[in-house]
Amino acid sequence: MSEATALAHPNVALSKYWGKRAGAGNYPAVPSLSVTLSGLATRTHVRFDGSLAEDRLRLNAADALGGEGPRDGRETSGEPRARVIELLDRVRRAAGERRRAAVDSCNDFPTASGLASSASGFAALALAAVRAAGLDWDATRVSDLARRSSASAARSVFGGFVELDAGAVSPSVDEVLAARPVAPRGHMPLAIVVAVTTAASKSVGSSDGMRRTMERSPYAQAWLREAPRLHGLLRDALLARDLEKLGELSEASALAMHACAIAAGVTYWNGGTLEALATVAALRRSGTLAYATIDAGPHVKVLARPEDVMLVRRALEATAGVTRVIEASPGDGARLAPQPGAEPAS
Ligand code: DP6
Repeated sequence: MSEATALAHPNVALSKYWGKRAGAGNYPAVPSLSVTLSGLATRTHVRFDGSLAEDRLRLNAADALGGEGPRDGRETSGEPRARVIELLDRVRRAAGERRRAAVDSCNDFPTASGLASSASGFAALALAAVRAAGLDWDATRVSDLARRSSASAARSVFGGFVELDAGAVSPSVDEVLAARPVAPRGHMPLAIVVAVTTAASKSVGSSDGMRRTMERSPYAQAWLREAPRLHGLLRDALLARDLEKLGELSEASALAMHACAIAAGVTYWNGGTLEALATVAALRRSGTLAYATIDAGPHVKVLARPEDVMLVRRALEATAGVTRVIEASPGDGARLAPQPGAEPAS
């Protein structure tokens, strides 16, 4: 088989990855822990094709994939295509595959706006490319491959609550570093309510934002010391199913990461972000367990109990600067999907 379609979901980091080890290979400098989301998805089809002179990438290709979502389906060039080719080259080298590939992908949520589309995107691409090349890799190898393109994507290969260690201090580029599941999706009742505060793309990509933070922030060393400590405590709170502690630590990790970045002039927040943070604080004052986390974008993701979702949703909808509210819950890892156009199994 020379083609495959895979589906993967974004994840929300509860303890944040921000900062890389020096050198090549994209090894994180700190451990991270995330929850993979249901509801939002990237679907990616890869076909190795001897008639292609070069690799072809189409984003927003809902037409080709039979899915919901934007359908402009334009050929994509520049940096996004270069990152895809890098992954395809790794797969080609491993499989002895010489053919170029056609990649079609679509998201059913806003691309490049901090909803971790690179996580679901590279997790789906890694799995589809590996299978299309006929490689029989397990999830750990797929996760390591995805990490090399985008470290948060290593976590979206798995469902539920997922951890990614920091890389070794001076990793050699062939060192395997994959995410691993910590607890299944049903481990504890949890809702993730996303307050979308813009439909625009983020101004600074995560790799660039991290680099600038580590070069310029006076708090970079403090973050690198604090992040593993918060991570360990957060992992314990998760295993104890303690939403209050998990929420407090998630918020602390997000605030420390963003404070460190803002001190370097790397600001992902907008006015809606601050308003949504104030709404979450007000919810808490009125006795609702609600905690905020923010990735490399302006959206606020609120952790809450499933029975409080309506209350949280209404409060966020009434918040200035919040343009849309999306509900999610812990979801599954990356998996193969039927080929576009295939008859559903009866
Ligand atoms: C703030 O995984 O997008 O979302 O490895 O450079 O592609 P690269 O970075 P990426 O960074 C995600 C940063 C974050 C926190 C997180 O997901 O842990």
